[in-house]
Amino acid sequence: MRYILFFAGLFFICLPGCQSDAQPRKTGIAQGGNDFIDSLMAEMTLEEKIGQLTLYTSGWDVTGPTLNDDYKQELVSGRVGGLFNAHTVGYARDLQRMAVEETRLGIPLLFGYDVIHGYKTIFPIPLAQACSWDLDMMRESARLSAKEAASAGLNWTFNPMVDIARDPRWGRIAEGGGEDTYLVSRIAEAKVKGYQGDDLTDPFTLLACVKHFAAYGAAQAGRDYHTVDMSERVLRETYLPPYKAAIDAGVATVMSSFNEVDGVPASGSSYLMKDILREEWGFQGFVVTDYTSINEMVPHGVVKDEKEAAALAINAGIDMDMQGGVFNQYLAQLVEEGKVPLAEIDNSVRLILQAKIDLGLFEDPYRYMDENREKETVFSTELMDHALESAKKSMVLLKNEEVNGSPLLPLSQSTRKIALIGPLADNKIDLLGTWHASGDESKVKTLLASLREAAPNADIQYVKGAGFEGDDQSGFEEAISAANAADLVIMAIGENYRQSGEAASRSQLGLPGPQQALLEKVHATGKPLVTVVMAGRPLTITWMHDNVPAILYAWHLGTQSGPAIADVLFGNYNPAGKLTITFPRNVGQIPIYYSMKNTGRPFLEEQKYTSKYLDVPNQPLYPFGHGLSYTTFSYGDVSLSQNSLDMGGSLTASVQVTNSGDREGEEVVQLYIRDLVGSVTRPVKELKGFQKISLQPGQSQTVTFTIHTDDLAFYTRDMSHKAEPGDFKVFIGTSSADTKEADFTLTDNSQ
Ligand code: BGC
Repeated sequence: MRYILFFAGLFFICLPGCQSDAQPRKTGIAQGGNDFIDSLMAEMTLEEKIGQLTLYTSGWDVTGPTLNDDYKQELVSGRVGGLFNAHTVGYARDLQRMAVEETRLGIPLLFGYDVIHGYKTIFPIPLAQACSWDLDMMRESARLSAKEAASAGLNWTFNPMVDIARDPRWGRIAEGGGEDTYLVSRIAEAKVKGYQGDDLTDPFTLLACVKHFAAYGAAQAGRDYHTVDMSERVLRETYLPPYKAAIDAGVATVMSSFNEVDGVPASGSSYLMKDILREEWGFQGFVVTDYTSINEMVPHGVVKDEKEAAALAINAGIDMDMQGGVFNQYLAQLVEEGKVPLAEIDNSVRLILQAKIDLGLFEDPYRYMDENREKETVFSTELMDHALESAKKSMVLLKNEEVNGSPLLPLSQSTRKIALIGPLADNKIDLLGTWHASGDESKVKTLLASLREAAPNADIQYVKGAGFEGDDQSGFEEAISAANAADLVIMAIGENYRQSGEAASRSQLGLPGPQQALLEKVHATGKPLVTVVMAGRPLTITWMHDNVPAILYAWHLGTQSGPAIADVLFGNYNPAGKLTITFPRNVGQIPIYYSMKNTGRPFLEEQKYTSKYLDVPNQPLYPFGHGLSYTTFSYGDVSLSQNSLDMGGSLTASVQVTNSGDREGEEVVQLYIRDLVGSVTRPVKELKGFQKISLQPGQSQTVTFTIHTDDLAFYTRDMSHKAEPGDFKVFIGTSSADTKEADFTLTDNSQ
């Protein structure tokens, strides 16, 4: 308590200078609190300082070994700076009280949690949200999940996760925004702003944590925690920009990743943590490791024991040890032995204390702990409405063919007999998806219940038919007879929530368990068939694409999955989602992404010795940016404001988009460029902008993008980041594979 009172006094004395003017928040000691931190640190023992660098789980939701069961004892000795997985006001308040009232200096705790796509009210998984291409919506999702979590004792989320991922075998692809650097960077900014707001002392905000720095999404063969190895050019051009975007947006904390980069585990890499993060990017917040990732440098094989690991991590620029306990165990000794400079520890302590000041914890350590606010906020109408809205926006209509003369979707209210088949049809928990925090399945309305509500006059027969694992086909017969008796069949199939996410890599990406066999049997009945696929990743649904007339990719949409899907199926909402990840035809095509290089032997049908497979086309099943609507859009030609651009200038590219169908709809208009000749090879297409527009039937809109020469910059042969003069193509279209194009030349008149 002592320092809480002291802080209050200090705050009062220096009021004019220290007053927050609600400017966009910057992390860092320069923002005030210097005197306070100095005097607090002057009182701290080395042990107490190291305590601030220590984060333990409370024992809930453990994703790895719990090293310290006795954390309460550690806490009152001042050897803990923060806890994670400790939430709800009732639970967290007591822990905060122990820190504030029972430790010598009374320094309040940070309370972290994986609020990834919601705290209790669960929004769509991040990969699904990305498919909305709606940055305002994603910012709002972050703002609302911060509001809910911050009402339940939390002040820190381990999000956004902005790892570029191009391998759907990797289960954590669900947690990020997909394959594209530009898009994921914009999402990173939106989410940081959503979580943190403009002022962290606002008790409805959280500290955000961008993760997993760096390049965790590039695990070889999609196997989680596996080696990452790439050129510096690819690292800087493709993988680093989203983390940088989060930092530029003011993210308060960074999480170091489990993986190695160029032979050095991230938590021991001063190249990543000091050279890039601090020196190049000017990051002023603190860096927390991922779960026990300091200890894991021993099996990585770069240190012989955990003591060496602790020294490597702190000297590399890590500030906080998540759950490993090695800072607490070894840092004091390492300082004594002269292996760790005290200044390293002091720097980290300052950054962590500053974050606590920024949150207003020294003024009021219980500011996140108001039971009434918790009751009012958790599952509030505002949150539940947003869960529905965001779920509708996140679905992607992959295919919608005509059956009996009209597109199968949306379904008509006159459909009398519907068979609803599959393990996700009358399911709650799996709809919440991976990392669903404290998501409460009792609040989920199943698809079955939602369809019955949406089509009260229809007779909807439900049969589960199959599970997610094994090969039990005992439910098939019942499913087939329900299909035979129906006018139309909806199959709700895909993955359960454990089949994507952390430690959930898969080497085969078909429908898991007996679901593919069930699909084929139901299809054989000849009934009009709609599949609703719920999953945490792209599945290789090539057979489905070839045989099923209508496919709605719903991902895992969270608490309001059922009503949102029913709204799309019955046309109360016109789907507008577009893929932010390429769908492969088979696992052998992976990695496959739209921004590939041309190669010296680009594919030519008539020539054998070109870059291709003997057994599968080069093209994906569904390209990046693909997604249908219940209406159609036609694109005019691309017109440029000029065909020549001088270095430092900009031009505009415009296209007229017309709603050529018969209902109102939204379209994501996408802008790509290609640099035809560079000092190093360039991708065949790179996303550089997008706009989501809404058009009435018959309505046209001219969509204009500005292309600045900075947008054309890349890491050139000598690794400088700049644009090079030469010829460029501009593409605008409805997906990365369906565009109109124009050409311009970049000149450099200064040379
Ligand atoms: C994950 C992180 C997560 C942490 C804390 C780790 O296993 O990799 O993303 O934030 O656990 O729960």
